[in-house]
Amino acid sequence: MRTHLNARLNQKHIGEEVRLAGWVSNRRDHGGVIFIDLRDRSGLVQVVAAPETERAFAAASEARNEFVLGVRGKVRARPEGTANPELPSGEIEVAAAEIEVLGRAAPLPFQLDDADISEAVRLKHRFLDLRRAPMQDALRLRHQLLRAIREFLDARDFVEIETPVLTRSTPEGARDYLVPSRARRGAFFALPQSPQLFKQLLMVGGFERYYQIARCFRDEDLRADRQPEFTQLDVEMSFVEEEDVMSEMEQLVREVCMRAARVELPGEFPRISHAEAMARYGSDRPDLRVELELTELTDLMRDVEFKVFAAPARDAAGRVAALRVPGGGALTRAQIDHYTEFVAEFGAKGLAYIRVEEIARGRDGLRSPILKFLPDNALDEILRRSGAADGDLLFFGADRAAVVNDALGALRLRVARDLKLLTPGWKPLWVVDFPLFHWDETARRWQAQHHPFTAPRDADVEHLENEPGRVRARAYDLVLNGAEIGGGSIRISRSELQQRVFGALGLEAAQAEAEFGFLLNALQYGAPPHGGIAFGIDRLAAMLAGRDSIRDVIAFPKTQKAACLLTDAPGEVAAAQLRELGLRAKPGAADSGAR
Ligand code: AMO
Ligand code: AMP
Repeated sequence: MRTHLNARLNQKHIGEEVRLAGWVSNRRDHGGVIFIDLRDRSGLVQVVAAPETERAFAAASEARNEFVLGVRGKVRARPEGTANPELPSGEIEVAAAEIEVLGRAAPLPFQLDDADISEAVRLKHRFLDLRRAPMQDALRLRHQLLRAIREFLDARDFVEIETPVLTRSTPEGARDYLVPSRARRGAFFALPQSPQLFKQLLMVGGFERYYQIARCFRDEDLRADRQPEFTQLDVEMSFVEEEDVMSEMEQLVREVCMRAARVELPGEFPRISHAEAMARYGSDRPDLRVELELTELTDLMRDVEFKVFAAPARDAAGRVAALRVPGGGALTRAQIDHYTEFVAEFGAKGLAYIRVEEIARGRDGLRSPILKFLPDNALDEILRRSGAADGDLLFFGADRAAVVNDALGALRLRVARDLKLLTPGWKPLWVVDFPLFHWDETARRWQAQHHPFTAPRDADVEHLENEPGRVRARAYDLVLNGAEIGGGSIRISRSELQQRVFGALGLEAAQAEAEFGFLLNALQYGAPPHGGIAFGIDRLAAMLAGRDSIRDVIAFPKTQKAACLLTDAPGEVAAAQLRELGLRAKPGAADSGAR
């Protein structure tokens, strides 16, 4: 149908007859001569139809934006002074001898070059949105990323193996999507939240090195970096320890970022413990492009008169910390009020602050409503620990540690963005030494920090029953510019230990047997020591493409309300379909559903 790609034509082709095809990107009628920018996957070329070539001219006259045309014509140099240096084909044009309309386009719901079309409109007409250069670029980058991943792993003896999508519930901590079984009425498959259990079974099955570009399904509250179905690079390896997984996967990430997006990551990724990340950044996925750090004050505030600080400081689960903002003295009262509202979203009951005007003048050089509650030695120590300088501002958080960390951790990023304290570049790091469990106050029980198959440190196993909070996990997360792009662990490979961990999680033996009997069983037949990791492909692709939302690197994403605007899924089904499955829809349930 065609001899060349549009944007590949240049001066070398002058005089050649070519056949092209593509979409009308732009059409201009210049008093008798019609110019068409014809777009295919390579880009644009200018096609010129003159009245002398009657049939071609008639087709060009009829064409509108996004019509699909086939063109035959001769390549010629553009007249002196009309070259377009912005286009690869900008030196030439194609004089049309013949134009055929291959597909007509109805009036468009939006112009493709319009920069601010609402996302809802883009998603409803995604097939048009996909034609736009930013979408083409993003999905091509994603393809390069997947390709680089496969090449890296294939060259290192990993085997790509698919695992079931219709399966049992896998506990990654989100709600499951369920699929009713027709053959066994009242029974349900769960769509996998990850291939976690199958990849472990593949290790018991002797494959030693597995990977999969796997679709995962989680019914959770959505945000810009979460979709109900998303893609993981899932990896599992036998006969490895943390160091083996981390060093090989670090190489993978470095190499694929370079190959897919020419992004150069630093030579060795720093590692910090979970405890240190929380202490210094208030987050287990710190953005190291921001230098601001929290200052620990808990020990200092136990005996001060100010109850707001003293009470959490004396509470074992409490924390008092400060965030030093260099140059923050210039913040207005209104801005501080604004930040106070901001931290309230994270549960903070207030946001005390001290303006540091002139340290040399001691107490008189500071401005703050809380000065009168703090003794000299506490003030001196606050200034010393935080490294405050004249012109700075200190914010304070005092509450349960979780609240202080969430609030000041988020404030750190917010202030950095507002005051332009975010240095551009790529800052990966490993977070290690996670606790195996965390206490869930609402459910009043211990929950797995990652998932229940994560191995505890050997030295901590003895505390599993008596002091679960003390047990550290053999887990690691990879964080890039403040986003968790991957996480994994060494797994439990012995049945007895797995049962003890289930026990610590409050899972009765019978329940563990019912839900995970197949795993416990498999672990009894020569399970190799093994571990692995999974990376969020959508997050990594979005980051490399410089997009804020993972929806921009997914061809057909869902909205914040987990709906597809293009196909209008989820949709209602026929009563007969439900009957076959032994289900009945509750009246009125349909509207309260997904949209
Ligand atoms: P985890 O639950 O940490 O680990 O998931 C791994 C990575 O997947 C990405 N991710 C998501 N991306 C988009 N939308 C979502 N809803 C979403 N949820 C997670 C994140 C995350 O780091 N089985 C374990 C891995 C293992 O232990 O090997 C697991 O799934 O980037
Ligand atoms: P109050 O005594 O409630 O007027 O609070 C005095 C200052 O402490 C105000 O600036 C409050 O914003 C701040 N504040 C109150 N509670 C907290 C808290 N839990 N953490 C940090 N600052 C707080």
